[in-house]
Amino acid sequence: MFQAKAIETNDKPAFYRDLAQQLEGLLQGESDAIANAANTAALLFTTLPDLNWAGFYFLRGEELVLGPFQGLPACVRIPLGRGVCGTAAAARQSILVPDVTVFPGHIACDIASRSELVVPLLRGETVIGVLDLDSPTRGRFNEADVAGCAELMAMLGPRLAG
Ligand code: SME
Repeated sequence: MFQAKAIETNDKPAFYRDLAQQLEGLLQGESDAIANAANTAALLFTTLPDLNWAGFYFLRGEELVLGPFQGLPACVRIPLGRGVCGTAAAARQSILVPDVTVFPGHIACDIASRSELVVPLLRGETVIGVLDLDSPTRGRFNEADVAGCAELMAMLGPRLAG
């Protein structure tokens, strides 16, 4: 049985290298998309410090629909181009929001959220959804989180085939 282990380092690149190894172990041998997305959300929520929400939205036509997550119940549908998630999906780019109160059109699913990081999830060249991480702390995420999470999503994208 896989057991998530706490990562004790303040070095974010080292943190994400360790997390990538854990994710590899977690996904190994499993091809079911829901299982892989659900376990990834749980791994991120339990290992990344200072989060209040971690999960996925998947692209269905012209909107994002809520996928597996950890945290409070959230908005189910987000039109492409709206909010941080819809903007990141439409632009195929990660969006780092140090302060959600100054992001135009931010969608507040959990009023505790103060900063947010959204990373597109690709299968090949196609956007299939986004990873959304929320923190109750302003400025929680930096470029090391963007790079680390992009690596994790590059591992997960091909494992969401089922
Ligand atoms: N804040 C997001 C909505 C999703 S929740 O944070 C879980 C947004 O603006 O797209």
